Amino acid sequence: MKRRTVLLAASGVLCAVAFAIMWRPSLRETTGTPIPADAATIARGARVVAQGDCIVCHTAREGTSYAGGYGLKTPFGTIYSTNITPDAATGIGRWSVDAFRRALRHGVSRDGHFLYPAFPYVHYTRMADADIDDAYAFLMSRRPVDAPPRKNELPLLFRLRPSLAFWNLLFLKSGAVPAGRGVVERGRYLAEGAGHCASCHTPLDFIGGEEHGKPYDGATVDGWDAPPLNRLDSATRPWTQGQLVDYLSTGVASEHGAAAGPMRPVVDNLSKLPRADVEAIASYVLSLQKPRGVRNDTPVNPSMPAGYAEGASLFAGGCAGCHEPSAPMMAMEGRPSLDMATSIHADTPRNAIQTIVNGIGLPDEPGVSVYMPSFDDALSNRDIANLLVYLRVRFGKKEPWRATNKIIEEVGKDGSAPP
Ligand code: HEC
Ligand code: HEC
Ligand code: HEC
Repeated sequence: MKRRTVLLAASGVLCAVAFAIMWRPSLRETTGTPIPADAATIARGARVVAQGDCIVCHTAREGTSYAGGYGLKTPFGTIYSTNITPDAATGIGRWSVDAFRRALRHGVSRDGHFLYPAFPYVHYTRMADADIDDAYAFLMSRRPVDAPPRKNELPLLFRLRPSLAFWNLLFLKSGAVPAGRGVVERGRYLAEGAGHCASCHTPLDFIGGEEHGKPYDGATVDGWDAPPLNRLDSATRPWTQGQLVDYLSTGVASEHGAAAGPMRPVVDNLSKLPRADVEAIASYVLSLQKPRGVRNDTPVNPSMPAGYAEGASLFAGGCAGCHEPSAPMMAMEGRPSLDMATSIHADTPRNAIQTIVNGIGLPDEPGVSVYMPSFDDALSNRDIANLLVYLRVRFGKKEPWRATNKIIEEVGKDGSAPP
């Protein structure tokens, strides 16, 4: 009898705890038209929204800005971003600022359902209330767009949103981190909060949380290597404050190379920030550096390994026009030579392959000007492998990478190349 009472009481407590962890109330909808914020608030909000790259994930390919529908590929399936324009029916038009704050701080939607951490609220939670409120004012001043949410493509197990409550227990430390004094502290506030740099530059564990104890150790994201930000030393020249500011605000650093792949839209947004913000982020990144390990950088004597000669002629035909040191492009101020490029000196050929397959940016893109065409259709997988041998030996003065074929197959789509 006694034992049964204890058991009953224990399960009652467990249920109550589970309920408290997994249940969130729906917050009341606002009614009527919101009072428009003043121009200064909206301008500050635009800056916060650029710091947070909100437009990148909340805009579908060729879609309207902030209307959502962009698919984020995660190891668990595809998650679609939602409409954050002020449309009353399909967007956040009826959200109070409290509901918006709760979403960014706790990863909970207005109606109380948990949001997937593909939305980086584990970082946005560190933003100050004032910044969140400004972002709200900015988004509420956009044109409402009627865009219903798209259905996620997830296996049943991951569709059970209440279980995200347990994920949050492990990975979410909610609450603003007040910005301390000084430039580095301002940079920390921007990078760890709105900038969410760690969401790509920190390795993720098997349930998609940032691994504890490994902040900024580098990770693979969307098939690209996001290099470690705490050991920016695979480069031949040290990263200086000036080089980092150039890279982050223009997408290219004369002694390191260009920002491509998932880093490119980050830079597009950073380029809209006041220079002082980017300088602060750069100072913070430099403050993260760990001492250099022992490096085995003995340059190899450029011999002629298999594939080198084929690579050399492909390079002469398709790449030299831009990349040969004598090419007109190289004469432009600030153009990095391939012998300093991060991707050529990296431990894996992943980013070099991605760059060749996907190119960099779009021609005539406003803002960031760096452009390289995609060679996906022009080169076979074997051509790419040969080019890699050539690039690595000639420009990197290193042994060719091993096991390149697996990554080429993963990144490119063979068969599209002309015979
Ligand atoms: C890395 C991609 C990514 C970025 C960057 C991002 N979001 Fe999202 N956001 C998402 C995804 C995906 C969802 C949907 C999550 C879900 O359905 O569980 C989402 C959901 C939301 C929601 C909840 C909407 C609803 O209807 O429940 C809000 C609010 C939101 N985001 C605001 C923002 C703001 C503001 C920013 C910039 C500070 C931002 N997001 C940046 C991916 C992103
Ligand atoms: C969406 C994912 C993503 C986010 C968010 C992101 N990065 Fe990156 N970052 C990358 C990838 C991928 C690369 C490699 C790009 C390349 O090789 O062209 C990169 C490259 C870099 C590099 C160049 C490193 C080197 O060794 O060449 C720096 C510096 C950098 N990021 C800093 C930042 C900072 C600071 C932030 C936050 C403000 C940030 N990144 C946010 C994905 C991201
Ligand atoms: C139309 C000009 C153009 C052509 C043609 C071109 N590239 Fe590029 N490439 C660029 C630009 C611009 C960059 C950005 C860095 C810079 O400014 O040097 C770049 C960057 C790269 C990088 C990355 C460097 C880094 O930042 O880590 C690699 C690798 C590369 N190119 C290889 C090639 C190869 C291989 C070919 C031929 C198959 C080629 N490129 C053809 C313009 C070009």
